[in-house]
Amino acid sequence: MCGIFGYVAHKKTNAVEECLKGLQALEYRGYDSAGLAGIKQGKIHFYKRVGKVRNLKELVFEEEVALEIGIAHTRWATHGGLTEQNAHPQLDSSHSLALIHNGIIENYQEIRFNLMNLGKEFVSETDTEVISQLLAYEYTDFAFIPSLVRTLEQLEGSFAIACIHKDFPDAIFASARDCPLIIAKCKKTDDIFISSDANALSRQDMELIFLHDGEIAQISAGIITLYDKKGLIIQKAFESISLCSKSSSKEGFEHFMLKEIFDQPLSLSQVIKNRFDSHTAKVQIHECKDLGQIEHIRLIGCGTSYHAGLLVSSIFEEMLQIETSAEIASEFRYKDPILRKNSLVIAISQSGETADTLAALRLAKSKGAKTLGFGNVMHSSLFREADLFIDLKAGPEVSVCSTKAFTSQIASLLLFALYLKQTIKGVDVALDTTFFHHLESLSGIVTDVLQQKDLIRSFAEKYADYENFFFIGRNLMYPTSMEAALKLKEISYINATAYPAGELKHGPIALIDETIPTIAFLGNEKTLSKTFSNLTEIQARKGKILALSPRHFTKITTITNDVIWLQNDLPDFFSAIPYSVAAQLLAYYIAKKRGKEIDQPRNLAKAVTVE
Ligand code: G6P
Repeated sequence: MCGIFGYVAHKKTNAVEECLKGLQALEYRGYDSAGLAGIKQGKIHFYKRVGKVRNLKELVFEEEVALEIGIAHTRWATHGGLTEQNAHPQLDSSHSLALIHNGIIENYQEIRFNLMNLGKEFVSETDTEVISQLLAYEYTDFAFIPSLVRTLEQLEGSFAIACIHKDFPDAIFASARDCPLIIAKCKKTDDIFISSDANALSRQDMELIFLHDGEIAQISAGIITLYDKKGLIIQKAFESISLCSKSSSKEGFEHFMLKEIFDQPLSLSQVIKNRFDSHTAKVQIHECKDLGQIEHIRLIGCGTSYHAGLLVSSIFEEMLQIETSAEIASEFRYKDPILRKNSLVIAISQSGETADTLAALRLAKSKGAKTLGFGNVMHSSLFREADLFIDLKAGPEVSVCSTKAFTSQIASLLLFALYLKQTIKGVDVALDTTFFHHLESLSGIVTDVLQQKDLIRSFAEKYADYENFFFIGRNLMYPTSMEAALKLKEISYINATAYPAGELKHGPIALIDETIPTIAFLGNEKTLSKTFSNLTEIQARKGKILALSPRHFTKITTITNDVIWLQNDLPDFFSAIPYSVAAQLLAYYIAKKRGKEIDQPRNLAKAVTVE
């Protein structure tokens, strides 16, 4: 999603190169246009291009652009279509300032209307241009900070901005309200960077300041001056944090998605190694204390993270005998959920920056619930805002389509359930040796799935031309099939609908014929024969079936020869992991056959920072 980057060198230099590097580091988030602006000889210069950062790069190289300071942006369209006019930076009518922006200004239409009545002319459809025009209107007497304060006071919504003004040719101004924005100073060079994403700052030794609650920063060579939202000078200490660099290498794989699918034996073994002491057979979660009184649990998240929550919610309930439910964060936050101080709200988010998940977390906190974040990015907003935080340690995930974060979420959440069993229920989980045996075998089981990649690829090629699919499963295989269908939709742009297998007969079966194949998930022993019956109903209506089935269930060949055989003897708790890995490969190879842009699918973003 949108990304902000800015650069002020300690000693005068061309800022363009750093800005382009910053934009490249933000690319993984998903975007559809890019731009940058800077000041040269007291004048604002700006450059924008629809499409990839490389298009912008070509433009600035062609024109041999040199700028003294720079702000740069990747835009994911919200207000207004994919045009150069709507790309950031947005300027005011007299080109006295340039501004880039993440987030949404909820009252932009009213402000725009008022400014138009005052004779301002707009060139874009964006809410960002409204900020630029308003700021230029408010600006008087070379007093930039007071005018910025007056401007920000009029804006509703959550946002982060960075801007430059021709009257302050050596400064960048930045502010953030409920949206991440980091100011980083390089310890070696004193160069200062601004970014909405810590991943774009991972290249050097940095000291960081996180802007919160409408705070404003004025940044010029080697100097950062901070103000609160009223414009009063404040002091904030730097946080010395070592940022882990987002791996920029595909390590020989054609796409990050494929690399990340193949990372899973390692990422899963990391989760287990970090949380489970195989000598004592104890689950150790150092980050969590004071959970003894928990009486009910809510798991919240979006997209893939919601699926992880949904999947484990029934496992939590069964294992802990504590009422547990999973909810989509964007829905949860508009309910009036019953939460008490003995409620535990678990917010699951790979990026730790998903706006809906953070808003739901804030609601839970305001109602007195204890909050726990499960995230893959240390120092993210989730890390900073949740009472407790568990790091998934899945390693950086670059592809927009989430793969290894999902399986690490499931494994971590399962271990967390065991931890609660230990701490709340006082059960000696060490006695459950079968559970731990299976847990430790997960990496090997996933490796076994990966070894079937050629078979899975051949099925992908066979099914790649269909435009509609059903994905079905029962019990834990239902959320597994939801996640699998999401993978296919995200990267192949194929319509894939997940259904609980038993529910098909209550309507959707009307659609079944030879044009809509069904991908069936049979990794749940408890419901195997029932799912089989549902499949016979599909076969009777000439529906094609590709089954993901345990090896022992040879009966499946009586209705289809298209079978991906998976591990037997795995308890239902764990099956989602190998079945999901097989489905990830299937989606990957279908998208590849259809020639899609796999790592950065159209319209999607890695971190969705708007509500
Ligand atoms: C976006 C991504 C999805 C992801 C969802 C939640 O929509 O495209 O792949 O599952 O956000 O992201 P989170 O970072 O909160 O897990």
